[in-house]
Amino acid sequence: MLRAEQTPSRRAVNRPRFARRATLRRSLRLLGSFKYEQTDPAIFYGGVAADTADLVKDFYRDLTGRSLRGTIVLDVGGGPGYFADEFGKLDSRYLPVEPDPSEMHAAGLKVAGAVRGSGMALPFRDDAVDVCISSNVAEHVPRPWVMADEMLRVTKPGGLMVFSYTVWLGPFGGHETGPWHYLGGEYAARRYRRKQGREPKNRFGKSLFAVRAADGLEWARRTPENVEVLAVFPRYHPRWAWWLVRVPGLRELLVSNLVVVATKRTPHSACETTDFVRAG
Ligand SMILES: C[S@@+](CC[C@H](N)C(=O)[O-])C[C@H]1O[C@@H](n2cnc3c(N)ncnc32)[C@H](O)[C@@H]1O
Repeated sequence: MLRAEQTPSRRAVNRPRFARRATLRRSLRLLGSFKYEQTDPAIFYGGVAADTADLVKDFYRDLTGRSLRGTIVLDVGGGPGYFADEFGKLDSRYLPVEPDPSEMHAAGLKVAGAVRGSGMALPFRDDAVDVCISSNVAEHVPRPWVMADEMLRVTKPGGLMVFSYTVWLGPFGGHETGPWHYLGGEYAARRYRRKQGREPKNRFGKSLFAVRAADGLEWARRTPENVEVLAVFPRYHPRWAWWLVRVPGLRELLVSNLVVVATKRTPHSACETTDFVRAG
């Protein structure tokens, strides 16, 4: 749906700054770090954190023309706060929200201002933060689209919301129970317990849910009029493969991680929804 005239954020829709970073070299670098997720999470999460900070910095610059200096960045499901350093380097005030105390303390990081709470009922007032992000959390939440709505609620008009999650039918959808999730989440969980002698950390139906790429696009399509969806793309893919988001079926298998970038309109701004959403 075309919502209005040319706006600063319309430029972000056409030529997002971040697209220039989305090279094959970057994809291979990130892919190389995935194997450390369970054995050395600091390597994996450190790389993803730097990349995420670049993504947020670029989209915020496209949207506002400003750096992240002095902004409040709320990270929903921030875990131990691996992203704190990277956003700190950009002089923003980084606040993780996390419901699970054991996750909060998992890496021994101390993040000032860390808040305990759920993304499905964020303990913040409306329009409280400049940037609200969530990375690899929606697939762990029973009602991810309530969380997405909450994230928009707490984002200031003119601020940025970045919602990114692992697609169920992608290669990493089953997490440590993959690739058996292709035969069903419950089967994959039982098989893991049989083979490993313990429950998987990410237990299907309890802490792991089947979220489709189509669900993210559907959410983006039904956002209210005061919300502008700036971009929807596969998080780890090079720019030339972003078209995958447009292809039903194929996107479920190959997108792997979907990013939805949105902003809330200020009273005086106009809106335009990205082509990816319209074509989806
Ligand atoms: C895979 S970790 C992602 C951590 C971090 N965002 C990152 O990308 O490195 C998923 C996180 O989501 C958190 N989580 C689970 N349910 C949640 C909820 N209802 N609200 C917010 N976070 C939740 C988990 O506790 C966990 O820390």
